[in-house]
Amino acid sequence: MISDRKLEHLLLCKHYDVQYKNKNSGFKDIELVHNALPEINKEEIDISTNVFGKKLESPLLITAITGGHPSAFKINKELAIAAESEKIGLGLGSQRAAIENPELSNTYEIARENAPNTLLIGNIGAPQIIGDSKNSKEFAQKAIDMIDADILAIHLNALQESIQPEGDVNATGYVNSIENIVEEIDVPIMVKETGTGIAFEEGKTLESAGVDFIDVAGAGGTSWAAVETYRAEDRYIGELFWDWGIPTAVTTAELSNSLDIPIISSGGIRSGLDAAKAIALGADAVGMALPILKEAFVGHDEIIKFINIFNDSLKIAMFLVGAKNLEELKNSNLIIKGDTKEWLVEREFNTKNYSRRN
Ligand code: FNR
Repeated sequence: MISDRKLEHLLLCKHYDVQYKNKNSGFKDIELVHNALPEINKEEIDISTNVFGKKLESPLLITAITGGHPSAFKINKELAIAAESEKIGLGLGSQRAAIENPELSNTYEIARENAPNTLLIGNIGAPQIIGDSKNSKEFAQKAIDMIDADILAIHLNALQESIQPEGDVNATGYVNSIENIVEEIDVPIMVKETGTGIAFEEGKTLESAGVDFIDVAGAGGTSWAAVETYRAEDRYIGELFWDWGIPTAVTTAELSNSLDIPIISSGGIRSGLDAAKAIALGADAVGMALPILKEAFVGHDEIIKFINIFNDSLKIAMFLVGAKNLEELKNSNLIIKGDTKEWLVEREFNTKNYSRRN
């Protein structure tokens, strides 16, 4: 059952090491250039954003985690209370379980009940919208109505589907289906990966299909191959693909400099400093799942503390490069080194474009 699977995923993420082993997000290869004369007051740095059509006090999104199991009820409640009080965006986990079994709807509805004003992002999987377009539209609309979603995210998770025993591996017709949803649904559509990144070529395809936001969700943080390895009877395939994917710094750079729609950088973002680097690479917002889930297991105060430390670290990085708002941070100078540089140069992106921008 989907519901049992949701619980297993939560417990595995709580108790096991589910992150990439021999690959990292790439942010260690990014250096922001220190500004010894920042000429700004740190206390006045503004990290608010309107990129999603609602004013948020930080570019940090809690990206899709959970729902669909009674134990997810408490987690979504805690996350929603924190998102509302700190005025940040919250993504819910895949709503498929509740669309197929309405008894589980309360595990998602609890989020809107506790976050009446802030940005809530609904979530469905691309495999659920292929085929009959009327059914797909109804499916998407149910997800939106369940939580009065401001945005609907459609997730891509080919890696996980390949490794989980019950995986859905027919990925034909995704682009067409996404185009139909964009046309038929009247809230903005986000397409998000789940930890393996999106290359420039597919980013362009998604932009042409009309999607409003892309969350790259690159490699280097939570590995869905890892999560599914722990669930598999035979671990060979999961271990083989554990580190598959495009590192987050790479996928962020590939998309944010080639596309006109807003880009969310996520997958292995672990601090306000990582976030500053992602935004300087061109991202409009950043997302985190696993670290915030871990705080949610502990309690409400820990989530708030985590968000405050994140925001303050982001502001310190901005102070040190002399950026008083996110637009200025986007234009700050940075150096791309190591594997990230190698990857981007091989893909014919000019890494020098970042190094002396002002
Ligand atoms: C996820 N993620 C996810 N994404 C999605 O679009 N729908 C979903 O239902 C879920 N479910 C889910 C459950 C759990 C327990 C975790 C930890 C994650 C993926 C998530 O949104 C994110 O893209 C990746 O986890 C990478 O980010 P982090 O964890 O490295 O910050």
